Amino acid sequence: MANDRERWGSRSSFIFAAVGAAIGLGNVWRFPYITYQNGGGAFLIPYFIALITAGIPLMILEYAVGQKTQGAPPVALKKIWKKAEWIGWFAVVLVFILATYYATIMSWAVNYFYHSFTLAWGRTGGEINAFFNQALLGKSGSPGILGGIQWPVLVGLAITWILIYLALFKGVKTLGKIVYFTVGIPWLILIIMVVRGLTLPGAVEGLNFYLTPDFSVLLQPKVWLAAYGQIFFTLSLAMGTLIVYASYMPEDSDISANAFMTSLANCGTSFFAGFAVFSTLGYLAQSMGVSVPEVTTSGLGLAFVTYPTAINLLPVASQLFGALFFLLLLTLGIDSAFSQVEPVVGSVVDKWGLNKKWVLPSICILGFLVGIPYTTRGGFYWVDIMDHFVCTYGLTLVGFLECIVIGYIFGASEIRGYINSVSDVRIGPWWDVFIKVITPIVLGVSFVMQFIKLVQKGYSGYPMWTAFTGIGLVIVLIIISFVFSTRKGGNP
Ligand code: TRP
Repeated sequence: MANDRERWGSRSSFIFAAVGAAIGLGNVWRFPYITYQNGGGAFLIPYFIALITAGIPLMILEYAVGQKTQGAPPVALKKIWKKAEWIGWFAVVLVFILATYYATIMSWAVNYFYHSFTLAWGRTGGEINAFFNQALLGKSGSPGILGGIQWPVLVGLAITWILIYLALFKGVKTLGKIVYFTVGIPWLILIIMVVRGLTLPGAVEGLNFYLTPDFSVLLQPKVWLAAYGQIFFTLSLAMGTLIVYASYMPEDSDISANAFMTSLANCGTSFFAGFAVFSTLGYLAQSMGVSVPEVTTSGLGLAFVTYPTAINLLPVASQLFGALFFLLLLTLGIDSAFSQVEPVVGSVVDKWGLNKKWVLPSICILGFLVGIPYTTRGGFYWVDIMDHFVCTYGLTLVGFLECIVIGYIFGASEIRGYINSVSDVRIGPWWDVFIKVITPIVLGVSFVMQFIKLVQKGYSGYPMWTAFTGIGLVIVLIIISFVFSTRKGGNP
């Protein structure tokens, strides 16, 4: 049975696929901003500690679970503990929701890329703002008003899903070749962007903001939570992705070295991307005659408004740099998108033994259809809301449950024995402590703190009913996961 399982062509294909899943939109807009917001250079300390005490241990755990059980998340967790199958399904339904809105963000980038050749998104900050909020998204003003569909966004969404389908339909061997490009191209573009950024006037000011350490923040718990949150998000943990990718590796492949390589490549890329972003923001601030914090925005605004504004101000070849930047976002994001669809497809195939040839297009069409509401005028708000609920609550819950089931029920030292039997770098008993104590405590505390904040203030200024919808969604997804786990499998 395990012998006819799909396989990566080589170990490096697997590593590139995992790195591609990890490196995504989050590395370019989220990491630099979070770093700046949480003490600049000093933030690298909690970030690094979070990587060592939670990121790498959980990644090792997920690689081990996938590889040892040779199954996608539901089957894998069931083999770990009979009652844990639903946790696998929970990860899978979460990653499906993630895929639907991630593809929508990709669709915005598709539109910008298309318009970058003529710089149709405008030449000044104000125009770009209007292009993003009005022309492209047609923002309705409230998540309660969906308004009509924004057709270019819908077209971009269809293009994104077609690309996902094309990358996956030939199986993981071919995917393993595609990821060399989807990881290599953004690296090349980033190098160009960093060189361009550092040679602009004002760059040093920007870098000062990025890196000047403010050590006093290390005493604030919220900085530590931000560091752990960013690590879980950026490594694509607790969503089934790494389990399913590892399940296409032979059972005796090295685990610990793979985990070290993937996580360091990802975090190194984030750090490097910060140079491109902040040098350019320094230039923007200088051109506008304001200070760097005044032009530093978070999240989607940074990628779709602020950064394009800076690009347009470039003395030469702004079209070229505009196109390059959106090509960067597209190539960064697309392999994260593949990695959100593969766990869903793999889970259905593994549980019911259905033919991938039919499962993949069905999931892609379903994902596209579920994504249509995000292409309406109220869609932007729902992308934001879904992101919060899936990543803040879903991800922490799955990570927590994985640690408990593997740490206590299956036994941390037992699975460590397996890891050490296949890996060159041996893992010591410290790993058990991280999996059984530190990681679940961090995840539990951050879940509770976020939840208290949500109940008190709602999410991000949206009406309170959106928070209940989000909580309701998470509960419904848990119920669906239970229902799936009680269905009989069809695979011998
Ligand atoms: N790591 C991705 C990024 O930085 C986002 C992400 C979070 C993700 N969880 C995931 C991607 C699960 C794929 C699968 O953009």
